[in-house]
Amino acid sequence: MAVASMEEELKSIVEQAKDGVQELASMADYEAFKAKFVGPHGLLTQKAKTIGKLPAEERPKVGKLINQVKGELEAVLNGALERIEAEELAKKVGPAIDPTLPSPDGHRGVLHPLTQVRRDVARIFRRIGFTIAEGPEVESEWYNFDALNTPEDHPARDEQDTLYLPEGIDVKNVSRKGDERYVLRTHTSPVQIRTLLKEKPPLRIISLGRAFRRDKVDATHSANFHQVEGLYVDKDVSVKDLKAMLDYFIHELFGKDAKTRLRASFFPFTEPSFELDFMSPNLGKLSNQWIEILGCGLVDPEVIKAAELDPEVWTGYAFGGGIERIAQILYGIDDIRLFYQNNVKFLHQFR
Ligand code: PHE
Repeated sequence: MAVASMEEELKSIVEQAKDGVQELASMADYEAFKAKFVGPHGLLTQKAKTIGKLPAEERPKVGKLINQVKGELEAVLNGALERIEAEELAKKVGPAIDPTLPSPDGHRGVLHPLTQVRRDVARIFRRIGFTIAEGPEVESEWYNFDALNTPEDHPARDEQDTLYLPEGIDVKNVSRKGDERYVLRTHTSPVQIRTLLKEKPPLRIISLGRAFRRDKVDATHSANFHQVEGLYVDKDVSVKDLKAMLDYFIHELFGKDAKTRLRASFFPFTEPSFELDFMSPNLGKLSNQWIEILGCGLVDPEVIKAAELDPEVWTGYAFGGGIERIAQILYGIDDIRLFYQNNVKFLHQFR
């Protein structure tokens, strides 16, 4: 057989492969197709077997031709294999998704109810000119008690109520008056002192953060809870100013139908001192009854003095209350422990 006609036939095998490969739709198609050309009985294999029958001088040339065609066939087959594998993978993976679409399953994250209340409270006070102040959670006894006119023998300072750090510890980034002990702050009121010592009055601040007490945990007690503290210091601040601010706060939180009253109370750092009660017609089970919501009063002159200010010039009001308590009343939650258990079923209700 002439080399020329052999060349023709080999070319036509490649053409056949190139044409047929387009139709292959599955791995099974591909395997059969591949066998048809390069399998033991394939077209190319058969041609290769004929080499032996050629005159010796033509064999190298034809051998070279066959190798070249084999390479071309492999390229064609590999191209088809890649395409088929990609198609089969795409079938398994399913249609392309649009990652910018909103999730249909509703499992979007939500802010923790305490975070929501904290932000709401901050927003309400920001509107009437209060700024946010911060203080450390590890406090010195002086800031937590003495500067707030709370004497050594006051029951709040008892080891029963307060978590003390071991004696002899020096917390480098928390300043103290002398070498008094450190406590986990039992309220946010020490922020009053830290702010007054740092900034010049008149000033209005709120402070939101953690407080700690040596309480046994049950439905109404938690050793770790959150408070909001408010402080306004200026000239001639009166109970009238305090009441007007509290009315605004309660109306913003619980609606315009809420009524408030101040009830006489005692705190070492305010004089006079009050509990603020409120009542609302639309609070579910808690409707139309007085509910205690926070403590407040006019800043005691002893506190003004501890903050190195002249009590003849400067007056003020202060208030403090629990963030958990506000959230419990707003949402009708009767067990404080629910806030800390991270139960998704509970948390998802606050969307
Ligand atoms: N610190 C008080 C408490 O924890 C609340 C309070 C703050 C009362 C400011 C009066 C003024 O109960």
